[in-house]
This record gives sequence, structure tokens and C-alpha cells, in this order.
Amino acid sequence: MSTQEFSSPRSEYTHIRVSPLTLNIGAEISGVDLGAPLAPEALAEVSAAFVDWKVIFFRGQNLDHAQHVSFARQMGEPTIGHAVFGHEDEFPEVYSIAKHRTANSIRGASMARAWTDWHTDITAAINPPMASILRGVTIPPFGGDTLWTNLAAAYRALSPALQSFVEGLNGIHRFEAPAEPDAKKDYAELIEKRRLESVHPLVTVHPVSGEKILYVSPAFLQEIEGLAPRESQALLEFLWEHSVRQDFTVRFKWQPGDLAMWDNRSTAHLAPSDIFQTDFDRQLYRITLVGETQRGTDGRASRAIAGLPILSAREELALAQSS
Ligand code: SIN
Repeated sequence: MSTQEFSSPRSEYTHIRVSPLTLNIGAEISGVDLGAPLAPEALAEVSAAFVDWKVIFFRGQNLDHAQHVSFARQMGEPTIGHAVFGHEDEFPEVYSIAKHRTANSIRGASMARAWTDWHTDITAAINPPMASILRGVTIPPFGGDTLWTNLAAAYRALSPALQSFVEGLNGIHRFEAPAEPDAKKDYAELIEKRRLESVHPLVTVHPVSGEKILYVSPAFLQEIEGLAPRESQALLEFLWEHSVRQDFTVRFKWQPGDLAMWDNRSTAHLAPSDIFQTDFDRQLYRITLVGETQRGTDGRASRAIAGLPILSAREELALAQSS
């Protein structure tokens, strides 16, 4: 593996401090106060660091909901909190990542594999959110870390023969309740109410960096179009295992008040499961930003099989009122 394969062009920063956490992904940003609007120069550098490092961390910001929304608006257009699982009453852009939220109500009966629960946010939509901004409020004294993986590095580390094979393939991404006997009725009903299913190229091109991305989101990607079921499953299992290789990942130990912002176009992440083995509480809040349709390396676009695009909070509320 050459050095080149592990490095992508990185920007110069003069208005913020950027401290990389690993070779491939993740940097801590300091020298900014996210509780107030950023100066244009600092905002431009935060945006560059976000694309360069794929997940950026800000320690001790202690934002409230309004400040979180205001920072998110500087980075893009906030979506509705969660297209399927809802939002905070007073803040339609904010989704509560509570330990016992509905999304966590079905856990654990299925076989755990290296890639289990890794995902890129809502890739079942034709336009998955372009970014997610997560803020920690109640954090366990230990445990509860989040992991991210760099899907551009994962693509680069494939052999040229496999790269060119997977570039021509499309994946079918579906939001569905696990087929488990204890699948909760309300969980399944919410998913049925907003059915989301889309076809995305298996290798996408990042709209800003131009990097090729191995666009495999284990929790949503169900099959590869045009392959026989066994071929599809075997190839997906290889790609999922490959995409979460330790050298593509970063692990973040939260403190209350911290904020993480990740590029949902070039990463997958894993929420912690160890918190369910303790009584420690864990509460975070997330805002996602409206995303675009994905593009393959030959320019082909994603296709929706079911469901509307995920719109801004404002547009989603207007639609809900009119229906
Ligand atoms: C998420 O998947 O957005 C939440 C991650 C976490 O709980 O650490």
C-alpha cells in the first residue's frame, strides 16, 4: 500500500486549528466558538476541514437547541429531525438520540458481525442527508463511543480489478424493520408510513472532493442489482467487512458539550451498543442537512423506488400540514 493511497489533498488552515486524530479520518477543530455566527473565513475553513477529514470534532461547545440549529444553518439547510422517527416538539430540525429512542427499540437478536449496525444516515432515500451534526449532552463516564469509517479510503484500498467491477454496479437501499419476532409494532408502523427505498451506484463520486466513495451502508443496503442472491450477499459481506477495517476508522470518546459533524457522503458510522450493558444514561441531539441525489463514476444518478426526497424541516412541515 503506497503512502498516496492513504492521503488525499488537505487544505491550509489559518483561521482555525485542525488536529488530525488518525491518518485517514477525523480531526479536532479548535479556535472557534460555535455558539455565535462564524466569521466567513473561519466558516470556509471549517467547511474545508469537514470535507478533508470527513468527521470533525469540536470540544466543549455546550450548545443549546437554538445554537445547534443556527450553526447547522451556516453549514447547509437542516432537514426535518428524522424523516421516519420524528423530531423535537419545539425544534423540527432536531432529532433526539436518546438511549431508549424508538430506533433502538429492536436490538440484538440477530447475528452480530463486524459490520452490524454500521450505516450512512438514511441512504434508503434518493437524497440521503449530506451531513449530520451530533451534540453530546448526557455522556456516560466510560463507554458510549462513536466510530466513523472513511469510505474513500476503503475504495482506494480495493484492487484495480475489483474497483472497476464494483463501479458498474448499483445497490438497492431499503429502510425496513429487522425480521425478528420481537419487532416492535410502532417501529414497523413508522417505517411503513414513510417507505424509503432507492437505488444508488455502489461507487459514488463526492461532489466537492471528486473522490470515489465505496457507497455501502450496511444497515440500509440490501442487495446488488442484477446479481444472483448468493453473489450479491457474498460480495456485500466482503465489501462491508472491508469498509470497516480498523485503519479506515476513528473512535471518538465523548464529553458533555462536544459536537461532531460528519460528511454523510463519504463515511459510515457506528453508534455504541455497549451502553445497553450499563444503567448509564446517554443523550445526544442530531441535526442533518439536506442532501442531493448521488452520482456514479459514469455520471449515472440514483433512482427512487419508493418515497419522497428528504426535504428541509420547513418544507416537510408544510407538506405535513397540507396532507
Ligand atoms: C447516529 O447514528 O447518528 C448516532 C450516533 C451515536 O449515537 O453515537
